[in-house]
Amino acid sequence: MIRIPFNRPFATGKEIDYIRAAIATPKLSGDGPYTAQCHGLLEQSLGIQKALLTTSCTHALEMAALLLEIEPEDEVIVPSFTFPSAANAFALRRAKPVFVDIRADTLNIDESQIEQRITARTKAIFVVHYAGVGCEMDTILAIARRHGIGVVEDNAHGLYGRYRGRYLGALGQLATLSFHETKNFTCGEGGALLINDAQFNERAEILREKGTDRSRFFRGEVDKYTWVDIGSSYLPSDLLAAFLRAQLEHRDQIQSRRRQIWEAYARELASWAKTNGVRLPIVPPECEQSYHMFYAIMPSLESRQALISHLAGLGILAVFHYLPLHLSPMGLRFGERQGDCPVTENLSDRLLRLPFFTGMSSSEQNQVIDAVRAFRC
Ligand SMILES: Cc1ncc(COP(=O)(O)O)c(C=O)c1O
Repeated sequence: MIRIPFNRPFATGKEIDYIRAAIATPKLSGDGPYTAQCHGLLEQSLGIQKALLTTSCTHALEMAALLLEIEPEDEVIVPSFTFPSAANAFALRRAKPVFVDIRADTLNIDESQIEQRITARTKAIFVVHYAGVGCEMDTILAIARRHGIGVVEDNAHGLYGRYRGRYLGALGQLATLSFHETKNFTCGEGGALLINDAQFNERAEILREKGTDRSRFFRGEVDKYTWVDIGSSYLPSDLLAAFLRAQLEHRDQIQSRRRQIWEAYARELASWAKTNGVRLPIVPPECEQSYHMFYAIMPSLESRQALISHLAGLGILAVFHYLPLHLSPMGLRFGERQGDCPVTENLSDRLLRLPFFTGMSSSEQNQVIDAVRAFRC
């Protein structure tokens, strides 16, 4: 029986008050008062010009693909070591994901391998700030500028992480967030599109509102709304935004507790890791991480599986993470082969994530630490 889960969603206590107040308003659909408050909180705290809540990070990535006008036969650069959502957003447009390997230290896209994969058909580079540690954005943005292509940050993990002092999500033309229950800030399922290039503002509102100019109508800018473009229903109910507002308002409390948990793992597992040939996360000096996860790179697939079993035997759920996208059934359809992204293939087999959640008690964390320390590779 699992006593210590991998994740337990955290609630601040204010969520229920805001949801009750939302129910009392005549507006439960999208873009009500709580959605506007979440937009304001994100825009002010990140110093960006526009945020739009979406039903998921996956949907925000689909919006990004639409905004960048990714079309059939286009190519888009993406790391192989990520969730399928970004690659799926290009596949939906009948475009081709071009998978690039990751750096062995941060597990982020290897910026030194991007330029050689750019062709006349490349439309954009989608990066992922793995575990909320920033990619080498100066280099990536310079490559994109040289080739006149867009950069989208998939910042599902990294809200409030920084790169060279600037917030993740404020660096690319577009960025996405996730508020899935496993993320630092959640409303169960949810996301956001962050827009750092104002040329996309108006069309993003239209795409999100079923291809209509309904947002302009609600602002009183037009006297009726109509179908003006393609789109879908990407906006969440104001009930979810009410939940999310409580989370975003408790940024300091949530982030400082997660920082304590992360630092305790790093401190208490350092000598065990050294003795057993295990590598713990590396955060380069130019990055301030978001304290999203704590992982260990084990010496082999066998030792990773053995540690997962050892912990499960003690009632602790540790999990692996992404399977290489280039070797997935969909990735193979795009012509990828074993060996194309060797670092991804190697590290994906060896990576293990320990239980990490905002409401984790010190006693729970100490049990995990003791259980890990009792394991020998
Ligand atoms: C990097 C990355 N992008 C996108 C997603 C999808 O997020 P959502 O569940 O909000 O669609 C995930 C899921 O965890 C993820 O890890």
